This record gives sequence, C-alpha cells and structure tokens, in this order.
Amino acid sequence: MNVVNTVPINTSRDLRFTSEVEQHTAHLYAKVSKVIPEVEWPIFAPMIHRINHLKAEKNAVILGHNYMTPEIFHCVADFAGDSLALARHAASTDADIIVMAGVHFMAETAKLLSPDKKVLIPDMDAGCTLAESITGEDVRKLKAQYPGVPVVTYVNTSADVKAESDICCTSGNAVEIIEGLGVPRVIMLPDEYLALNTAKKVKQEIITWKGRCVVHEMFTAEDIRVMRTDHPGIVVLAHPECSPEVIDEADYSGSTSGMAGYVAKYKPAKVVLVTECSMSDNVAAEHPDIDFVRPCNLCPFMKKIELSNILTSLESDQHQVLIDEAVAVRARVSVERMLTGWAPGSA
Ligand code: 13P
Ligand code: SF4
Repeated sequence: MNVVNTVPINTSRDLRFTSEVEQHTAHLYAKVSKVIPEVEWPIFAPMIHRINHLKAEKNAVILGHNYMTPEIFHCVADFAGDSLALARHAASTDADIIVMAGVHFMAETAKLLSPDKKVLIPDMDAGCTLAESITGEDVRKLKAQYPGVPVVTYVNTSADVKAESDICCTSGNAVEIIEGLGVPRVIMLPDEYLALNTAKKVKQEIITWKGRCVVHEMFTAEDIRVMRTDHPGIVVLAHPECSPEVIDEADYSGSTSGMAGYVAKYKPAKVVLVTECSMSDNVAAEHPDIDFVRPCNLCPFMKKIELSNILTSLESDQHQVLIDEAVAVRARVSVERMLTGWAPGSA
C-alpha cells in the first residue's frame, strides 16, 4: 500500500479539518468509508494529512501490522502486513526512518534488520504477552536441559531471547522453518499453541514452552460451534496462536496475511476471522460484498498505537528503538537465518 503525497509540505501543526484537508484526504476516506463513520473523519483526517506530509519531509516509512485500526492501516501505512512481511520490508526499505505501527518486538526486529536506520515506536508500552512469557535466561536453561536440540523462536520475543536462539519463525513460515532443519527434535518457543499446531503438520518432535497470546487464548472450540449454528455456511479462519481445539474446528488456519489472502482468493459469502478485532475491519474495508461476523478480541498492546502518537513519533523522533550491540549481533543471526534459510551444521 502506498500513500502518494502530491501536496506541498506544511510545517505547522494545524490539525483543523479545513476544506484543503478534506479535499486531500478524500481518496483515503473512500478506502475506509465502510468501516469509519463519516462523523469521525474530521478527527482523523488532519492527523493523517500531517503524518503523510511528515513522512515525505523526513524520508520516513510507516510499517503497519494487520491489527492496526483502519485509519492507520489504510491511510498512513506505506506497507502493511503480517510479522514476516513487515520484517522483510524493514530489511529492504531505503527510507531513513522506520516507524513501526505495531508492537515492540516488531520494531526490534526491524532494527535488527536495518541497524543503520532510525527505528521508532510510537508507544514503548506496546508489548506482547508472548514476548513477556520468556527470558534469555529461560532459553539458556532449556538448552542445558536439551543439549544439541535446535531452538526455533517465534519473532514475538525480545532480542535477548532471539540472541539465545538458533533461528526465528513466524506463524507464516513455522512449518517450513521446522521441516527445513532436517532434525528429529526441536525446541519451539514461546507460544505453546503455535508449537502444538505446528507439531500436527510436521514429522518432528517439538518441545514447547507455556507462552500464550492474551487475545487468541480467549477463543474456545465451543465459540466456533455456536457461530456455525448461528450462521449456517460461515467460513471460519483462525490464527495459529489459538488453541489446537479451536484450530480443529476452523476451515483454515494461517498468519494474519494468510487469512486476508484466503478471503481475497475464495471470497466466502460469510466469514469470521478468529483473531484480533481490527483485522476484520481492515479486510472488510477491501471486500464490501462479504459479510464479516466479528466475535473478536482486542489486543491491548496493538491498540496503544494511534494516529496521535504516530504523529508525535514522527515530529519528535520518538521513541527510538536501540538494542545492545552484543545482543543485536547474535539476535540478528536468528532473524536473518529465518529470511535466508538455515540448517544445523551450516554457517
Ligand atoms: P502474524 O505474524 O500472523 O501477523 O501474527 C503476529 C501476531 O502478533 C499475532 O497475534
Ligand atoms: Fe502479542 Fe497476542 Fe497482541 Fe499478537 S495479539 S501482539 S501475540 S498479545
């Protein structure tokens, strides 16, 4: 997604909904009119207009996760996607500044892959319960307990944890990464449900950790059965951070971009995305003919990112994501191996 700026840069912080702002943001409102009421647009539009000017002025790029609210996802993000796509984009962008409209581990991953760029996160408290569930010390203990067993670490972790790992994965490539290791046993951290769901698709034995996503652990298999009774014919798509019981009830399981891709490809008449709330809004904005049922849960960490703090972040270059170099050198290896491929015994 590219937001094209065709207007001169306005350096003042005038956030009134003027006719100029209305005119220059009309094409953006057209993208989100199905999910953002007209009455709310005068609040969003001036900030969107200012953010898009500042990006051009500072050669900054905004990377937006699929869980961002629609005014961020569709109106200021230059590139939007799942964790894997955001990491790939962070590695290849030629912008001077990356603003991560997502959570802290995503900003850290961007910094690992683009160490010479300024990486900003609008709110330092945009964390993740999975990232909080494990420390580098925990990984060292596990490695001592299972010597020689490779450690595959979900990107939803701190740089400290990545530094202790052999290779990273996301929900979009976990099966491929684990199969590619070519070993009979792996440790997969920290999401127990993602590990159990992946274990069903690979031949290897997987040693798990007890991390959980606060958003996805809330869904139950009974929720899905009730949904199918209430909405006959509904197609159920679920994120692999849900429990294996939920995944067993779903028609498809995949990363956030995997689910969006499924909707775009198969265009089900009625669908539910068993994941974070904003995801349905963002996909629904692009598919006005599809009926979305929305028994979603909010991620309190993703929701810390708003237009107002994105604007402050760009104006004041805050908050810069910095990683201790000794940690970064080792953590980068795990992330780069995920992107380029690796097997134990190779460099
Ligand atoms: P994706 O990589 O599928 O976007 O997932 C990230 C995440 O945090 C889901 O809760
Ligand atoms: Fe972490 Fe879950 Fe929020 Fe994703 S949805 S950032 S896994 S807490």
